[in-house]
Amino acid sequence: MHQDVRKRFTWLESRAVLEPYASNEKIMRVRLLGLCILVAGLIAMATAHATPLGLPPIPIPADNPQTAEKVRLGEKLFNDMRFSATGTVSCATCHDAARAFTDSPLPTSVGINGLTGTRNAPTVVNAAYLARQFWDGRSPDLEDQALHPFVNPIEMGLKNHDPILKIVRTDSEYKESFKTVFNKSGEQITMKEVIQAIASFERAVVSGDSPFDRWRYGGDQTAMTPAQIRGFQVFIGQGRCVSCHIVEQTQALFTDSRFHNIGIGINAIQQDVARLTSEFLKAKAQGADVDLAVLSDKKTSELGRFAVTNEFNMIGAFKTPTLRNVAVTAPYMHDGSLKTLTDVVIHYNSGGVDPKTGRANDYLSGGIRPLMLNQQQISDLVTFMEALTSPEYEKGSKAVKDKGKLSYE
Ligand code: HEC
Ligand code: HEC
Repeated sequence: MHQDVRKRFTWLESRAVLEPYASNEKIMRVRLLGLCILVAGLIAMATAHATPLGLPPIPIPADNPQTAEKVRLGEKLFNDMRFSATGTVSCATCHDAARAFTDSPLPTSVGINGLTGTRNAPTVVNAAYLARQFWDGRSPDLEDQALHPFVNPIEMGLKNHDPILKIVRTDSEYKESFKTVFNKSGEQITMKEVIQAIASFERAVVSGDSPFDRWRYGGDQTAMTPAQIRGFQVFIGQGRCVSCHIVEQTQALFTDSRFHNIGIGINAIQQDVARLTSEFLKAKAQGADVDLAVLSDKKTSELGRFAVTNEFNMIGAFKTPTLRNVAVTAPYMHDGSLKTLTDVVIHYNSGGVDPKTGRANDYLSGGIRPLMLNQQQISDLVTFMEALTSPEYEKGSKAVKDKGKLSYE
């Protein structure tokens, strides 16, 4: 991009110089135009975030453009523990940069006062690409999502968002940043600006360039081992993983952003589904807080996407998570119930049945059937998933050592 701009500039300049009858004024005008293009190019370079290998362009909402300053402000907000009732929990507590933005190895997240929730913290890495946020998709975008944890009693536990506004309106560093980024101060700063900055930061937390990306999209035949290449064949072939964990011609998000019941958690409430669904629908009609209900009550949590859409075919269905960096974010699934990637593959291989009864639940996705994979295929598939780790989250990488000190620009 830099070179392009330079080339255009000199081209314009030389044209102006070569034109024999050009007046000085005209040369100046053309030079000025060239200069403008150069400056615009430099500004674009400063704000554009190069897309890593294997990922599509980052979707940026028109009303919340990325700027380096905004991303930096968002990062500070994301790490600020003062925005919790006890002053001990920030977004980063459960989405730790050094753990690929999760709280691995916790099965389910722990918020203020050691309160434990019902769900495993998904990574924030590449959440920018998701069509809906949360395991059940109950939030439409990153901006909206960021409103919830602050006021969830088992996460950050604030009664409302006022304490956050009080801090950002009075803290001198925040005052300066909000002025620079949004040109707002005092009462003009609202939660809208706070969540926009957090979302901008999250849109800068994108990672590709894994061995798989270098192998598939970077033309490096040696980036994956022979076992990993065999594992990829199982992934797209007999394992049929790719039907939900999508891989495309030029990019791979490893999710279809859709919801499926693959036989996790639901087995525990199978006998109770009729009662639970009717109780839940009644409570919801009376204005119950869905966010609180699904994160604090284990059985309600297992209703999955149903809790959002009231559709019975969505009982026990959860959003397909990305598989990027999955090797460093154990344990797995919405409830953190599977400890290793081998456990995950064994679960799929059995056709998603309840290991206790050997039976499938009533709402199991049609895409989940016994796979008949042998030991070699199982181990290859696991090894393949280990090729999905981006360099910045590789154990022993610099970013992991400098806990939380990633550079997003
Ligand atoms: C106490 C731990 C905890 C804290 C604090 C927390 N989160 Fe989360 N986060 C979770 C859990 C658990 C989920 C999944 C909840 C669900 O799906 O119902 C989640 C989900 C998300 C998602 C959705 C990702 C996806 O794949 O759908 C994003 C984005 C996110 N959190 C960002 C944030 C931000 C921003 C903050 C701070 C404002 C924050 N989180 C604070 C635990 C936490
Ligand atoms: C029908 C769609 C579908 C198919 C097919 C599928 N998955 Fe999944 N996958 C999902 C969903 C949905 C989840 C989350 C389920 C939950 O938490 O209840 C998931 C979760 C996972 C996880 C856990 C990720 C995490 O961060 O917790 C891994 C690993 C995984 N799948 C690998 C595979 C592999 C390997 C295959 C092929 C053998 C496969 N999947 C086939 C939909 C699918």
